[in-house]
Amino acid sequence: MFEILLKVIWILLPAYTPNNFAVLLGGLKPMDFGKKFIDGRRIFGDGKTFSGFFGGILGGILVANVQRVLEILFNVRIFSSLPYNEFFYLVLAFTFGSMLGDSVGSFFKRRFGFERGKSFPIVDQLTFLLFAFAFASLTSAFWEFFGFLEIALALLVTPVLHLSVNFLAYKMKLKEVPW
Ligand code: CTP
Ligand code: MG
Repeated sequence: MFEILLKVIWILLPAYTPNNFAVLLGGLKPMDFGKKFIDGRRIFGDGKTFSGFFGGILGGILVANVQRVLEILFNVRIFSSLPYNEFFYLVLAFTFGSMLGDSVGSFFKRRFGFERGKSFPIVDQLTFLLFAFAFASLTSAFWEFFGFLEIALALLVTPVLHLSVNFLAYKMKLKEVPW
């Protein structure tokens, strides 16, 4: 079981890491250009920037490629068992889905009246993953790794992981709030 869990986390790193890169690279032009939605609140808010969005995707792609190289060096076959193009589609789905889901989450937070950066449990920790899964489910590679058990495990451990990493980033003064 523990081994399956580690494998699930390893495969999901390209879905998890984009947000960390967004924290590091974000902060320039907001994706909603400061515009408001019909309810008078911001569409996404200042926490969703183009540099964060695309930096996050590129960062996740970088992480996945490093993982693939490490696997080959240490003779592990997870990502490296896939032909490069299949691997790349999966990683693209994970990274893009992750950042898109993150933005959709913010869109809903603003609609419910949560200010930028306020904690909205479950939405903050799982929307990105649901979108990453939705896009990845269109690739054949995803179904080589994920069955019911793996998906259920991911939905259970992701909120815990997400909160721990954010707490660490807060302690390292990379993030302003611990969630
Ligand atoms: N970030 C960014 N662009 C993105 C996603 C994140 O610039 N597309 C950066 C922002 O600096 C943001 C930080 O990463 O403040 C943390 O991301 P997140 O927690 O998703 O945003 P919040 O500021 O908490 O805003 P929200 O309430 O909309 O989630
Ligand atoms: Mg946040």
